[in-house]
Amino acid sequence: MNKSITVGNLIQSRNCNLLTSHSVRQDIELLLSQVLHCDKTYLYTHWDQLLNKKQMKQFQSLFNLRKIGIPMAYILEKQEFYGYDFFVKSGVFIPRPETETLVSSVLSHWNHQEELNIIDFGCGSGCIGLSLLAFFPKARLISVDINTEALQVSKINAKNRGMTDRVIFLNKNVSDLDKEALFISTPVDLIVANPPYIAFNDNRVEKNVVSFEPPEALFSGEQGMYHIHSWLKVASYLLRPGGMYFFEVGVGQDVSSLRCTVNKMRKKAMFKDLLGHFRVIQYQKCYG
Ligand SMILES: C[S@@+](CC[C@H](N)C(=O)[O-])C[C@H]1O[C@@H](n2cnc3c(N)ncnc32)[C@H](O)[C@@H]1O
Repeated sequence: MNKSITVGNLIQSRNCNLLTSHSVRQDIELLLSQVLHCDKTYLYTHWDQLLNKKQMKQFQSLFNLRKIGIPMAYILEKQEFYGYDFFVKSGVFIPRPETETLVSSVLSHWNHQEELNIIDFGCGSGCIGLSLLAFFPKARLISVDINTEALQVSKINAKNRGMTDRVIFLNKNVSDLDKEALFISTPVDLIVANPPYIAFNDNRVEKNVVSFEPPEALFSGEQGMYHIHSWLKVASYLLRPGGMYFFEVGVGQDVSSLRCTVNKMRKKAMFKDLLGHFRVIQYQKCYG
């Protein structure tokens, strides 16, 4: 790229050889906003602004990362989820818009003033549990993940939102959890999870996802069901009677085998995402 380049030149550039993504223009706008510390409106009202050498160099190096397929969320170190920019970094699963369905499903079932004890299985960046805490001011959260980097990121997000004193972070395998491991004396009202649910041999997964996101966040046995089964069992002995477990599943995932997994848990409802796919399942722990 030559030296005298404006905001408008960059946004309109089509022959940068850069671009494989469908959302190139959007990506350029986001990268430029990052470099110029501004929002999109600023870009469109400063179309003729020249980038100085330092800004151009910074833009180019961010763009080079994008060119090799690194997800925008890792480049920008943030991903918007339920109205908030969560910090993310390489090594940690990027929050997805469809997971907002899980948060909405929970919110449609609980009174915001209740003093809930919540566990987030496989918390990743913390996007599900921390979004819920924002709506439940009296709730407390235990965030569990097997990935230490994810827990660190989740801690940063809790700190950024001023929620640290309401969250306990546990670096554990969910399948090994029991009440003792969680140091819980009070009953658990609500468990949420977006477990890994992709089958090992599923070749529909986008190449960039497999290349850049942590495999332990994605894959779950031959049918993509290992974690779904195992975590439902764990939920069944951590929840209080009447307590709820909400978890995400893949588009068209065959969950019929869950019918006979746990007799202490009853399926209550399923929720669709904005595209009309069933993505969230709600179970309730039986009374007595
Ligand atoms: C699909 S990601 C979801 C992350 C986050 N909840 C979200 O929705 O963006 C699954 C998460 O589960 C974690 N995980 C995978 N296996 C686990 C296990 N056995 N115990 C605890 N966490 C696990 C991964 O590290 C990853 O952070």
